[in-house]
Amino acid sequence: MKLLIHDLNEKEWKKVADNYDGWDVIYNNGAITPCVGCFGCWIKEPGQCVIKDGYEDTCVKIHKAEQVTIISKYTYGGFSSFVKNVIDRSIGYVAPFFELHKGEMHHKQRYDEYKQIRFIFRGPTITEDDKVKARRYVEAVCTNFHALLWEISFDECEMPEYENKKKYEGPVDECKKILLNCSMRGDKANSKKFLEQLSTDLKGDVEIVNLSEYTNRLGQLANIIAGAGTIVLGMPLYVDGVPSAPLRLMEFLEYLDLPDEKKIYLVANMGFYESIQIKNMLSMIKSWCATCGFKYCGGIAIGAGEMTGPLVALGGKGKGPGKNAAEGLGRIANAINADTVVEDIFADAHNFPRSLYMMMGNMSWRKKARKNKVRRRALMRQLD
Ligand SMILES: Cc1cc2nc3c(=O)[nH]c(=O)nc-3n(C[C@H](O)[C@H](O)[C@H](O)COP(=O)(O)O)c2cc1C
Repeated sequence: MKLLIHDLNEKEWKKVADNYDGWDVIYNNGAITPCVGCFGCWIKEPGQCVIKDGYEDTCVKIHKAEQVTIISKYTYGGFSSFVKNVIDRSIGYVAPFFELHKGEMHHKQRYDEYKQIRFIFRGPTITEDDKVKARRYVEAVCTNFHALLWEISFDECEMPEYENKKKYEGPVDECKKILLNCSMRGDKANSKKFLEQLSTDLKGDVEIVNLSEYTNRLGQLANIIAGAGTIVLGMPLYVDGVPSAPLRLMEFLEYLDLPDEKKIYLVANMGFYESIQIKNMLSMIKSWCATCGFKYCGGIAIGAGEMTGPLVALGGKGKGPGKNAAEGLGRIANAINADTVVEDIFADAHNFPRSLYMMMGNMSWRKKARKNKVRRRALMRQLD
């Protein structure tokens, strides 16, 4: 069977439904939950998501499909928040263990196959530059999933739901700085640790806010963000892009149409070693800023976040693998304090070899699984 993942509304779906007769279809029924970053799909129930909301078996559906087609609204260079949600919840399709693939750190295959994926991006005005960004992004997604980019196409169409934006007319405190922890891990997130390190050097009115506490109150969070002059997004990298939960917020803020030129900084971190892999997410945040009329003021991309996160405070004292991250965060803090723009910073682990990081990562998956009474061989289990 072929698999379709789409974000079309009912009216749009009716126009094309006949083309997908007999396909397995994953669509938005309004009940999808964002990935919470628990890695349960690797260390609790290997090969499927542990959140039981009807979208838990997308990894298995991808495996069973002879071909996969993804239809998505073109959103800042990547997928819409719904499609991204499905993709984030599908990482159990690959195995937790690390290997070098195309010269970079990636996950091992769970299934011995190279799935063909076709991507169709839809939107009212997709420029040539947008097309380049989308291609670069889906190439990265395919590399991550050991899939083959079968085809990419662009469908220019009206998007009526994005007309008639709501205008924010509340007060704005230009001096207020909101550090938004966009990780659904909340207080346990590496993003939070990096933001806390950043805050040690920041002057003035600074508040750290967890997105995870506002998932069902986006309007309230939007007002907090709208009322501040500077926003620092603390963002984990999920499947080469923005995780679905902050992406949903970003779509919402675009819809809100904030009036002033807000200053946006990015503190991004990732599981793999090479911080350069964050480049697509940096580009997405820049596209979002341009769409919303915000001023992108610079960011830091931090590699090996699962190690540098817990060690970044020590890095602030000039020691350990988190040293580069801490120094970069210091530069971001200086830029925020001086109200200036800083060039994007790429911070890999300081004096820590990639091979050792990968070896430690592979050992930690086995250890975590053991705690859940999942045997070593079960981590690679294949579901049919
Ligand atoms: C669904 C999902 C997808 C991920 N995709 C990537 C990825 O594409 N590249 C990467 O380097 N790390 C990836 N990671 C790892 C996270 O970026 C990493 O664990 C990060 O440190 C989490 O930060 P946080 O604690 O702030 O959430 C992924 C994690 C999850 C849960």
